[in-house]
Amino acid sequence: MRILTGIQPSGAAHLGNYFGMMRPAIELQEQGQAFYFIADYHSMTSLFDPEERRANTRGVALDFLACGLDPGRTVFFRQSDVPEVTELAWILSTLTPMGLLERCHSFKDKTARGISPNHGLFAYPVLMAADILLYDAEVVPVGKDQKQHLEVTRDIAIKFNQTYGDTFVVPEPRIREDTATVPGTDGQKMSKSYGNAIEIFMAEKALRKRVMGIVMDSRGIDEPKPDAAENLALRFLKLVAPKETTDEVVERLQAGGYGYGDLKKTLFAHLWDYFGPAREKRAALEADPNYVDRVLADGADRARAIARPVLQRARRACGLE
Ligand code: ADP
Ligand code: TRP
Repeated sequence: MRILTGIQPSGAAHLGNYFGMMRPAIELQEQGQAFYFIADYHSMTSLFDPEERRANTRGVALDFLACGLDPGRTVFFRQSDVPEVTELAWILSTLTPMGLLERCHSFKDKTARGISPNHGLFAYPVLMAADILLYDAEVVPVGKDQKQHLEVTRDIAIKFNQTYGDTFVVPEPRIREDTATVPGTDGQKMSKSYGNAIEIFMAEKALRKRVMGIVMDSRGIDEPKPDAAENLALRFLKLVAPKETTDEVVERLQAGGYGYGDLKKTLFAHLWDYFGPAREKRAALEADPNYVDRVLADGADRARAIARPVLQRARRACGLE
């Protein structure tokens, strides 16, 4: 089984990235040949600071490695180290109806937030299709926000195969229902670009502050909270604490005499512990300044070896060779 996924270097990895994509992807490594990459070309649609892109690329790579991505087994690379993907994106764009892209929620959401869209943002799903099809990927672990992009990829692959003959593998998304959409501290979808993220390797003080800033209702400590099982801080706690802990916290909230401040302190402690081992691993990896570069260079070689013949197959199919 060929597994592939990507993450943009647009900020540090957060709980949504971790539970929606990274953890499932790390688990899938054992079940086939995995290709995981840092989508730096994609980040260009919304990030315009070169130093920040460099720093985030290294940072997100460290985040993923610290969480258990095994670069001996998995091909871990930077998207732009295989520039062949941009040629394939062009080829695919000629088979992509405008209407298909106009209907994409992520594009519509971004423009609705007042971002004035560049062509790259509009064409984003075509580059994503190229990412996936270039490696003959069969399974793509992602959060729910990417579901529609996977549908676009499938449509494009099918259209290419119909037009030029059987060339591409038609991939399947792999979305975990329980963590498909992790909310942010404001209750909307957690995202690097919404200012509502809890980053998994935040410094202690910053993490405490972010947790204390989770938006709750105004009921005081003494009031019983019968709907406690649904509240936002509890949804986070469920991700990182054992069931006995969350059950006990729900009971105490329901009974009254236990406030949101207490809940948030418990949440902070569990978050801090949950990512403790990965935090230590990250510090150890970071101590070797060239480690990430070596991993990504090796990944680029292995990725290119797969990508080149697939691109050639596509070029031949459509008459470029
Ligand atoms: P962001 O939206 O924060 O910029 P990315 O677009 O780089 O993050 O997403 C990387 C991966 O993490 C994708 O598979 C995406 O579906 C997943 N993901 C991002 N945010 C969430 C979330 N809040 N809940 C679940 N999965 C998420
Ligand atoms: N668009 C994805 C996101 O923002 C990142 C990504 C780029 C990706 N190319 C991909 C994910 C290919 C899976 C497969 O989350």
